[in-house]
Amino acid sequence: MSKQINFTIDGRSVECQSGESILDVARREGFYIPTMCYLAKATPNASCRMCVVEVEGVDGLVLSCNTPAIEGASITTESDILYKERQNIMKLYNVNHPLQCGVCDKSGECDLQNKTTEFDLAEQTFATQEQKRKKKKWGVLSYDPYLCIMCEKCTSVCNEVVGSEALYIKPGGYKSVIDNHFGDCIQCGECISVCPVGAMASSDFKYNSNAWELQKVPSACAHCSSACNLEYEVKHSGIDSSGSSEIYRVTNEDDFDSLCGAGRFGYDYENRVAIKDEKAFNSAVEAFKNADTIKFNSMITNEEALILQRLKDKNGYRLVNEEARNYQNFMNSYSSVSGTSLYSGDLQAIKDSDYVITLGSSVSRDNPMIRFALATAVNINRANVAYLHPIEDYKLENLVTQFIRYEVGSEEGVMAMLLEAFASDEAKEEQKAFFSELDMGYISGESNVNEDEIKNLKSKMLRKKSPVIVIGADVMAHPSSSNIAKMVALLEKSSEFKVVIIPTNTNTLGVSMICDLDSEEGSSVVGYNVHAATTLCALGDGDLDMPALNQQEGTFTSIDKRVVPLNAALPHAGYELNDIAIALGVESEETINYTSELPTSKGFKSVEFDSLENYYTNGGEAIRGYLLDNKKIKTKKADEAISNITELEDYNGSVIYSVDHISQFNTFTNKTHQIIDKANLIGSEQFAMAAKIKGGQKVKFMFNGKEITRVFNLDSHLKGTVARHSTFDLHDSTSSGKYRYTKVQIQEEGN
Ligand code: SF4
Ligand code: SF4
Ligand code: SF4
Ligand code: FES
Repeated sequence: MSKQINFTIDGRSVECQSGESILDVARREGFYIPTMCYLAKATPNASCRMCVVEVEGVDGLVLSCNTPAIEGASITTESDILYKERQNIMKLYNVNHPLQCGVCDKSGECDLQNKTTEFDLAEQTFATQEQKRKKKKWGVLSYDPYLCIMCEKCTSVCNEVVGSEALYIKPGGYKSVIDNHFGDCIQCGECISVCPVGAMASSDFKYNSNAWELQKVPSACAHCSSACNLEYEVKHSGIDSSGSSEIYRVTNEDDFDSLCGAGRFGYDYENRVAIKDEKAFNSAVEAFKNADTIKFNSMITNEEALILQRLKDKNGYRLVNEEARNYQNFMNSYSSVSGTSLYSGDLQAIKDSDYVITLGSSVSRDNPMIRFALATAVNINRANVAYLHPIEDYKLENLVTQFIRYEVGSEEGVMAMLLEAFASDEAKEEQKAFFSELDMGYISGESNVNEDEIKNLKSKMLRKKSPVIVIGADVMAHPSSSNIAKMVALLEKSSEFKVVIIPTNTNTLGVSMICDLDSEEGSSVVGYNVHAATTLCALGDGDLDMPALNQQEGTFTSIDKRVVPLNAALPHAGYELNDIAIALGVESEETINYTSELPTSKGFKSVEFDSLENYYTNGGEAIRGYLLDNKKIKTKKADEAISNITELEDYNGSVIYSVDHISQFNTFTNKTHQIIDKANLIGSEQFAMAAKIKGGQKVKFMFNGKEITRVFNLDSHLKGTVARHSTFDLHDSTSSGKYRYTKVQIQEEGN
């Protein structure tokens, strides 16, 4: 427990934990101290000096951003001396920053512009000779060195928060500029969002609109289960009132929170329809009347999930969503041992951790906020990060302390090795039958994980206080997923580990809590965002057009076990799921009426949609919706038993791993104009040799019963015999509940 400190700011008594900076406490308590270089989510780089304050009894001015508060101190945030000091700093900032506000994107929301006014700088008294510097374009980023004030916020966020180490300062006195190791850049746009001036800008948004013309719609990103907080910035794009609206960009609360590239740039996936297509609607209703199954994916809101459940309750449909069902089964097995409905960790637990193990996930691609959280853990807490996976992710090289590569299919054995290493003696006694049968030599041989690697991993745990284990999508569809889930729960119960079980898709956690899912589909199937005999689809290629998630109101249940609101950025002129439900006798006037009816037995609260809040406090606390209640689950002795490790299936030959690209996640991001990655097969030299193919060659193979053609790209950084296969262009990829590794016969196209 850190010590409580009492001190005063401008005569008012305040309290904080020891170690907190004066600036953080002042902001939380509502005092204003101007800053130019401070970013709450990173460590202070202390380059601007705008945050100076006076401390009674201390000679000279003190930087509030990197000075911890001390007991009994008396702080002054406003005085003539401070004003003069800050005014002089602003004069220096304005040297060489041309007053081009009329044509600069940042105008109207620029910190320099605002503080130039705040410090009454009608004229510029300092000058220096202009230096020649090159403007740069790095994909989605455009950098203008003439506008750059070298505050270093972009380098801090890139290195500390994203963990990319792409941006750096190229020193040269007044000629200093920011540069980019472009190969390391993941195009997340975090540097754009934190830049206080117009120097680091979005290549796409440049010269497109003034900030003050855009209407902000607070919502949640719909591309993965982090459901990050964002604002769609929308403008009417026609010349008259009948013209349509467009999303011009996405922004976020950059001081405290982050977005990945998919959230920031993959926003224009709306389904534009001109009118309600009554004929298509009537046919769809007819199809529902004759159907016995609704097949869907987890790119839906909690409210839509409840509508589907109500339709099941009324008409007896089977609800089929294999991906969510795998997750539901996993959680049920987990609960049968943990005795709780939800896992204990969240993204903040990863950020706060000093020891993280990830198992069975390509975290950068499956859930980018986990990668960001790992970067914070490493950079702030010097965390030890172990990445257990058959494919090493070299994009995580600077964050991961230990890569442990295991054989495809051996996740169950690897989890058993972890349990053997970290579970308490009492837990081993409790599951005596399982532990006495464990043959570590056999598991080590099958998984190709040396027992010394696990010993080494365990040795790093010494003096670590807040370990977290992150369990990914690879294990959800593993044949022994239930046993893995029980082991995860036992580890959580019998050690200090907090657990995060990544919901596979955007609202997998919500769907798995709300819907009673079935395993088999019947003979007559209606699909929602999944192809079937009759398909309702937000992608615009079904039988009835539905609104995309940026056109809907409702809620998601995020990886943080939080029910967060989303608002419609754009209108949808067509029908929605609730219209179908009403036609089938499940009546509620609006979809959001279901928000307060989400099942309280599963931890939801009876709260109206309009009462859900969505903002940050001055101190950076996110007030977003509400947390699910973690319900106590009655466990039965018989269900708790962990079974022996099953024999490993053979994964020899060419094996491909279904995983998408950083930012290019699914059929929806694939519709957006700034995310332009093409689907491909990416493998190592070793893979190419074994499959007898070359880089750049077109190849074909059978995947989920269909022949797929892909360009094979060689990646010299990759090792091993498993290739990465992107699936974001396959319509039903987001509903796939298959084990992510597939044995394939690869052939040259044309043969
Ligand atoms: S886009 Fe992201 S990774 Fe690339 S330079 Fe900016 S912050 Fe770094
Ligand atoms: S590009 Fe922007 S954030 Fe980066 S140093 Fe320059 S002004 Fe600061
Ligand atoms: S894709 Fe996931 S991590 Fe990226 S902004 Fe959206 S919710 Fe956040
Ligand atoms: S905010 Fe403290 S030096 Fe910039």
